[in-house]
Amino acid sequence: MNALSLDTVRLSEDGASLIILDQTLLPGEIRYRELSKAEDIWEAIYALRVRGAPAIGVAAAYGIYLLCAQLDMEDMEAFCTQFRKHKDYLNSARPTAVNLSWALRRMERVLEDERDRLTVAELKERLRREAHAIRDEDIAISRSIGQLGFELLRPGDGILTHCNAGTLATAKYGTALAPVYIALEQGWKDLRVFCDETRPLLQGARLSAFEMQTAGVDATLLCDNMASSIMARGDINIVFVGCDRVAANGDAANKIGTSGVAILARHYGIPFYVCAPSSTIDPAITHGGEIVIEERPPEEVTELWYRQRMAPEGVKVYNPAFDVTDHSLITGIITERGIAYPPFDQAFRRLGLTPDREGSQ
Ligand code: MRU
Repeated sequence: MNALSLDTVRLSEDGASLIILDQTLLPGEIRYRELSKAEDIWEAIYALRVRGAPAIGVAAAYGIYLLCAQLDMEDMEAFCTQFRKHKDYLNSARPTAVNLSWALRRMERVLEDERDRLTVAELKERLRREAHAIRDEDIAISRSIGQLGFELLRPGDGILTHCNAGTLATAKYGTALAPVYIALEQGWKDLRVFCDETRPLLQGARLSAFEMQTAGVDATLLCDNMASSIMARGDINIVFVGCDRVAANGDAANKIGTSGVAILARHYGIPFYVCAPSSTIDPAITHGGEIVIEERPPEEVTELWYRQRMAPEGVKVYNPAFDVTDHSLITGIITERGIAYPPFDQAFRRLGLTPDREGSQ
């Protein structure tokens, strides 16, 4: 089995439910969940059953379509009111990954553009097609990022990655791990991928190491606090990470610990690349300090993955899910339209990442 063959997020054949691979069970169990109720879709996003910024966006697009398809009404005004209620609810599941609000806003734009022209039944069908388009585009975008990232690699390179920005985090291929999948297609067999375990939810250990191993890649797992040691040994030639929201100046929010990896990479002179679909770049945010960082329950740190609690009862816990890597530490930002190099604001403009995009929070 190759993780690339797993469908992370899709619509069921009969179009009546959202099917997600439950990532909280990996790598031990491969189980899909069929979701059709608002609370279940919200919970799947909140609990990271479906996770990774692009995959969250696809899940939200299918989710809002499904919830609207279930509405038994012909009146357009009432339909739009219900749409917005569901949109706000799904949007509240996670705050940092811009793809969630971006995908919901994109679906809402269909509603705004077509409501005067179509019946409710026709609009439902249009929403279904838009959700499919978001998924299809995500696959194409990931491949382009993979191709551009691949061109930065040399045979035998050691790649460090943090969290999981692989096929499980997107509709297919991933962003930070996409260059590795392209390299495999090209017949390269000697890349080495080093996966930070990524405390506290272990996306690196449970997901990236699993993905790379099932793809036949030489994969090594390390605890987050071992990254400096492996860089000092000279094993790492390049760092690829994903992102959840990129500010107009290039500051990039990604899984907690990413900024530390960037600081280490700078110290050791290792190129540090952020892989970012254009949907993740949020021109409405001028710098990283404006990005809302999700805080998660203390139990994720004190007990979640342990057989028994590993911290004293009542201890205060700091558990931000993301941090912001300062743009000055980033060598380049790989988008599907090209690689942006500093100064990032100018590069984003040159690549046509428009400054007036809507849908951000
Ligand atoms: O909390 P998660 O697991 O959703 O965090 C995921 C990440 O931080 C990824 O690196 C990011 O979403 C990019 S996925 C292509």
